[in-house]
Amino acid sequence: MPSSHRITFLISLLTILISFLIACDDGPSEAERAPEGAEKSSTGPGQWEPVAPEELTAHQQAMADYAGTSRGVMGQRLMGTVMEAAEEGGFGSAVEVCAQEAEPIAAEISQRRGVAIGRTSTELRNPDNQPPEWARDHIETGVDDQFYAAADDGTLGTAIPIHLAAPCANCHGEADQLASGVPEALELHYPEDRATGYQKGDLRGWFWVEVPPEIVEIPELEPEADDENEESAASPGEDLYVDYCAACHGRDGEGTPKVFPPLVGTSMVQDDPTALIAVTLDGVSGPLDVDGDEYDGFMPGQAQLSDQEVAELLTYIRTSWGNEAEEVDASMVRTVRDRTMDRTSAWNQDDLDALRREIDDEPWIE
Ligand code: HEC
Ligand code: HEC
Repeated sequence: MPSSHRITFLISLLTILISFLIACDDGPSEAERAPEGAEKSSTGPGQWEPVAPEELTAHQQAMADYAGTSRGVMGQRLMGTVMEAAEEGGFGSAVEVCAQEAEPIAAEISQRRGVAIGRTSTELRNPDNQPPEWARDHIETGVDDQFYAAADDGTLGTAIPIHLAAPCANCHGEADQLASGVPEALELHYPEDRATGYQKGDLRGWFWVEVPPEIVEIPELEPEADDENEESAASPGEDLYVDYCAACHGRDGEGTPKVFPPLVGTSMVQDDPTALIAVTLDGVSGPLDVDGDEYDGFMPGQAQLSDQEVAELLTYIRTSWGNEAEEVDASMVRTVRDRTMDRTSAWNQDDLDALRREIDDEPWIE
């Protein structure tokens, strides 16, 4: 990786740390407020032009990373709120909580992080979730790729695909997958709802984020001298990692204490890869003991990735940052995918313990 990228990811790591310091306290203080002029851009910063991913400048790349982290924070907050409500009163009442909380959560994250952020889709549940103009054409093509656009004033916009993870089917799945109480709650709150009938892995919608240029420092370009072990071309596994995991676990896999567990040196990452593959496909939620440290969050699964993609991604994780575990190949992913096909919820501690006992007796993967 060239050192300009390294600096970009150091900056993004810093923004992640800062954002969590901010996100975990009670409310924004004066100093934590977004800088002047960084509010939600309802009037818009002028003309927008699409930018191809390979043409992003180092500054735009840093803004895109900041957008990715904002997406991670918002996804986590939304799902945390929804799953908590579902545990208390079932998914029907969680629909109501989501109806009330989705907008304030987006507004709060916009303000705290100095970005504009929202969710959208071509098949909307809430008709107010229209895409911003700069993203509309791309979203309507249905092409399942992250999209970037730059405005006159330097603002970077990006639209990031959202795929259906297992627990989402309770509220967005086929008729027979919707949790009890959900059809009634949808009828009541979203009479025009178009957002059911999805299957695990389907493109459900998009996060869109606008990052003003002053939010992210311009990375300094330094001569490429101090890179010892870094390859200059990113591997396919590394690209996938950056797209699907780095927003929460960090580009260096170190995570964020108490919020996002590290992927460096943990037993799930380094041991038999069955649980790691399972968690990557279907996500994990609720209280989780990661080698003695307690977490209690939600991670979406990425079942839409192909066997080969999951293999490359996990091989990257298992052989980077000091991890030294065996590679994962596509046939291993296929085995775990087939054997967990019927799973309709994210993994949790109990199910993972049961899985570990099962493979201790008789491994799925040789
Ligand atoms: C408890 C039910 C529930 C669950 C579980 C749920 N959603 Fe939703 N979803 C909703 C509701 C309600 C809205 C409308 C929120 C609003 O008013 O903005 C919504 C809106 C959305 C939108 C915005 C576009 C639109 O249609 O308005 C996306 C994208 C989305 N959900 C994706 C997901 C994904 C992905 C998951 C799983 C990680 C998920 N949802 C889980 C109920 C749910
Ligand atoms: C939206 C944030 C988010 C994203 C994106 C994300 N994770 Fe996670 N991940 C979490 C959270 C939160 C937990 C802890 C979940 C819990 O407490 O139940 C977790 C836990 C894990 C664990 C188990 C604990 C450990 O560290 O060994 C692994 C492995 C993991 N994630 C891998 C991945 C991989 C691979 C990807 C990319 C495909 C990914 N994660 C993407 C938030 C995320």
